[in-house]
Amino acid sequence: MRRPVMAGNWKMYKTPAETTTFFEKFQPLAGNAIDCEVVICPSFTNLTAAVEAARGTPIRVGAQNIGWAKEGAFTGEVSGPMIQATGATHVLIGHSERRHYFGETDETVFKRTQSALEFGLTPIVCVGERLEEREAGRAEAALVGQFQKGIAGLNEQQVARIVIAYEPVWAIGTGRTATPEIAADAHRVIRAQVRGKFGKAASDALRILYGGSVKPDNVKSLMAQPEIDGVLVGGASLDPAGFASIVNF
Ligand code: PGA
Repeated sequence: MRRPVMAGNWKMYKTPAETTTFFEKFQPLAGNAIDCEVVICPSFTNLTAAVEAARGTPIRVGAQNIGWAKEGAFTGEVSGPMIQATGATHVLIGHSERRHYFGETDETVFKRTQSALEFGLTPIVCVGERLEEREAGRAEAALVGQFQKGIAGLNEQQVARIVIAYEPVWAIGTGRTATPEIAADAHRVIRAQVRGKFGKAASDALRILYGGSVKPDNVKSLMAQPEIDGVLVGGASLDPAGFASIVNF
């Protein structure tokens, strides 16, 4: 049985004070969820406040990106040791907004993933096809390409420690969720890639999350798919009551 991961991606929202307030409200509603792993990913500047607020609860905190070097002349980047020092345990890598607006490529995704693993963080590696790729019948090819270039170069020990998030770009922030069947199909494509490269045990153990307009009212049907091992929630994770009802689906 794969333990579900219910992750919140706060994107560029909330200050440290707002982070603390969120946890005060969220914790009594869902902070003791034991059937799943709850991970909240705020901006770098909120990591310390989030870790502090989550102390003594099973809630985990993740960053939204990670530099690929340990340290050095990389203005604007935040390294694995820096993230780890805040007490965060996870990190989102290759989110489509990073790919789209900030030039993130499969190659940099791969380097950042290696860095997260080197510094003891759990990478949540995001993949997903764009609308034009889906409409042209190339969704599967896009996922395979992202897997081959961004993930397949890891070794077996490394792949056992990652989580993959399937987020079709056309479903992010658009209110247009993939149907549970479309999501499950994509998850099967990804899992088949993992199986082909790393074997059955690795693919059976790997958690693949769905992300893209997940809301309290559609989480249940998504989680009913055996292929879907959790969700990565953007907009709906900003509200403590809303995210709690997703976690408690
Ligand atoms: P959304 O974002 O839930 O607001 O669609 C998901 C994500 O970007 O991770």
